[in-house]
Amino acid sequence: MEKNNKKRIFSGVQPSGDLHIGNYLGAISQWVNMQNKYECIFCVVDYHAITVKQDPEILRKKIIEIAKIYIASGIDPQKSVIFQQSTITAHTEFAWILNCIVARMSDLNKMTQFKDKSGNHQENVGIGLYDYPVLMASDILLYNTDVVPVGDDQLQHVELTRTLARRFNERFGDTLQLPKAEIRKTGARIMGLDDPTKKMSKSAASDLNYIALTDNPDKAAKKIMRAVTDTGSEIKYDLEKKPGISNLLTIYSLLVKKEIKELEKEYQNKMYGEFKKNLAEVVKSFLIDFQKKYNAISDKEVEQIMAQGTKKIKPIADNTLDRVKMKIGVL
Ligand code: AMP
Ligand code: TRP
Repeated sequence: MEKNNKKRIFSGVQPSGDLHIGNYLGAISQWVNMQNKYECIFCVVDYHAITVKQDPEILRKKIIEIAKIYIASGIDPQKSVIFQQSTITAHTEFAWILNCIVARMSDLNKMTQFKDKSGNHQENVGIGLYDYPVLMASDILLYNTDVVPVGDDQLQHVELTRTLARRFNERFGDTLQLPKAEIRKTGARIMGLDDPTKKMSKSAASDLNYIALTDNPDKAAKKIMRAVTDTGSEIKYDLEKKPGISNLLTIYSLLVKKEIKELEKEYQNKMYGEFKKNLAEVVKSFLIDFQKKYNAISDKEVEQIMAQGTKKIKPIADNTLDRVKMKIGVL
């Protein structure tokens, strides 16, 4: 894959937990729209997933599942590359080099995601969880990436990637391209259905928090009906006073591709019940359609698509790694 005049995008999702409509509306559906403007590489980041405990059989299934979700969402394997991180060994090799040469304890000590994920067990979590942002920097820098579209929770990691690249370049001369994060607009932060003040999350305690892309459509419709709403009866976007209704309006608007203002007008003088019933139908038919596409893709097909992806981009990664190895004196 020669770099043409299009800018290059790199992003990834971990094959762990259930992917939910927050991931879809906030991340993957945005990538779909970027495919014509950018040269895109979408990774299934399995070596990031093993920074926390995984069951081997489930992990193997989840890797295939994420790739299928990319394709069912509209990522076109003819246009964009889909691949599995662990199939290109340059990722871990380069991460080791970055660890030794430019990454410092003081950088990683600042990472808020590590603090959140390790909680009160910082002494006992694996080293991989601590070092996770350096592997992410390796993913991004190997492909001379211009733009990294991620949620705001990943901004700190992309900033660290820039710092590491800058340090390397200062010491060894211009070698690595500095990427930019592209953070989605605020509308795309989907909140939990059972608690609209917190982000929808696959690690939430209750499964009423999220709608998984693999949820039974009828069950998903029921989750919308049970979603927490606010006092009052007006269907109006107001994050402070009406976080529940605002979140449902956001989901509705993104799924039917209508402005929130338009929906507010449609539901003027109508009750929460009717609004939720209609949204439940919208979610249900979205899932039926999505799952039809998802089920039409075989495991074999996905394996082939990912193998082709690897073949296509491995030379880019190997080339960057060779240049780096030469600069540091091991080649
Ligand atoms: P994760 O599941 O944390 O690996 O996230 C995968 C992608 O989905 C990242 O770009 C996240 O920022 C994005 N994401 C996760 N949860 C949400 C949410 N509730 N709303 C919007 N985007 C999300
Ligand atoms: N850390 C990201 C997340 O949890 C996933 C990820 C790994 C990633 N490598 C990446 C995202 C490179 C963008 C670019 O969501």
